[in-house]
Amino acid sequence: MATADQVRLLLVEDVPQVAQYVRGLLMSQSQIKILDVLTDGSKAVDQIPELRPDVILIDALLQGRIKGLQLVKRLQEAAVGVPVIVLTVPQQPVEVDADRGIHGVLTMPFSGYDLITRVGQVHKEHRDSGDGGVSQTIAVFAPKGGVGKTTIAFNLAVAAAKLGTRTVLVDGSIQFADLRALLRVPADAPSILDLPTDRVVESDLSEVLWRDPSGIDILLAPPRIEMAEMVTLRDMEKVLSLLRRLYDAVIIDMSVALDEMNLALLDRADTILELVTYDSTTIHNTIALADTFRVIGYSPAKVRYVVNRADANAGIDPADLTRALGRVPEHLIRSEGGVVVSANNQGVPFVLSNPGAGVSQDVEQIAAQLLAAGRTPVAAGAR
Ligand SMILES: Nc1ncnc2c1ncn2[C@@H]1O[C@H](COP(=O)(O)OP(=O)(O)OP(=O)(O)O)[C@@H](O)[C@H]1O
Ligand SMILES: [Mg+2]
Repeated sequence: MATADQVRLLLVEDVPQVAQYVRGLLMSQSQIKILDVLTDGSKAVDQIPELRPDVILIDALLQGRIKGLQLVKRLQEAAVGVPVIVLTVPQQPVEVDADRGIHGVLTMPFSGYDLITRVGQVHKEHRDSGDGGVSQTIAVFAPKGGVGKTTIAFNLAVAAAKLGTRTVLVDGSIQFADLRALLRVPADAPSILDLPTDRVVESDLSEVLWRDPSGIDILLAPPRIEMAEMVTLRDMEKVLSLLRRLYDAVIIDMSVALDEMNLALLDRADTILELVTYDSTTIHNTIALADTFRVIGYSPAKVRYVVNRADANAGIDPADLTRALGRVPEHLIRSEGGVVVSANNQGVPFVLSNPGAGVSQDVEQIAAQLLAAGRTPVAAGAR
């Protein structure tokens, strides 16, 4: 079972003895978990979004259609956003070169200590660097529908932009495209599907981002439900890596499901802003989700609980919620139907249309706290 902060390692190795050697070195420890050993480099690019490794270890001497260092190059071109350690022999020295996608090197023979230290160090450096910059990815999630994810994600993005942060909002509700509905975006407005399918580069992004009158950029989901299946994990991962390079804050409005796509989005997030309301099924699902997150290996610090409509506790004692969550929720947002519903009905953010309202101040406070927390290494990459 994965434990909090366990590093998920993917090994690309076609020599069974070497794979066995690495497995043996990692046998009696729990800091690093080998997810899989891929023997065919040509399959690695497609399998990475599914396997969600934290670090990839590639044998420089890998044979087959794609050789070891070609695979490193390919992963870099595909912007998979996972650091790579190259395993080599003294006769074929390899230099660490992050610009070429080589974040660490291990030269045979190495000890278990060398392996664990190098993997841990490369993982930590990547995590602390926030994928090469100070950008923060915040996933607004909940294990229950209708608790305010879209409303809060939109207003949080605008509040972050008001603080001078370059912010992009990603419509992660791929099927129902909640932001399209909320913002009354024309059906022909471009979506993530208008990006080239194979090689997405930075210049392509500006063509497909929706510039909302509120001032933020939005990457919209497809305009029709059935188009959702055309959005691949690989495209989404790539797009998120690129957005991270261009924006200081990437905020994702998510759907409820815990499917492959959502797991990839949650993995990518530095912070999961998890909404909870005073409703017994929401609380039940929130506890169940906390358990799943523990099994996946997310650190508790990756999740920040937001009690939405916090003053509408419908008879549930806030102390009971704290007990159920196992901690005091980090943030509270007031319920202000008059302000929120009328802003939503006009497709405008209440943090702009009614900045003096209590609910606006609550969201602005969360934006300020998250952005400040993101500047400290712990919150920037906690998982
Ligand atoms: N703090 C609040 N005060 C009052 N009303 C709110 C508040 N937050 C959200 N709402 C209302 O709750 C309803 C649901 O909000 P929203 O659509 O954002 O939820 P969601 O979690 O994104 O739903 P879904 O699961 O369908 O994606 C909306 O009518 C919104 O106006
Ligand atoms: Mg929604």
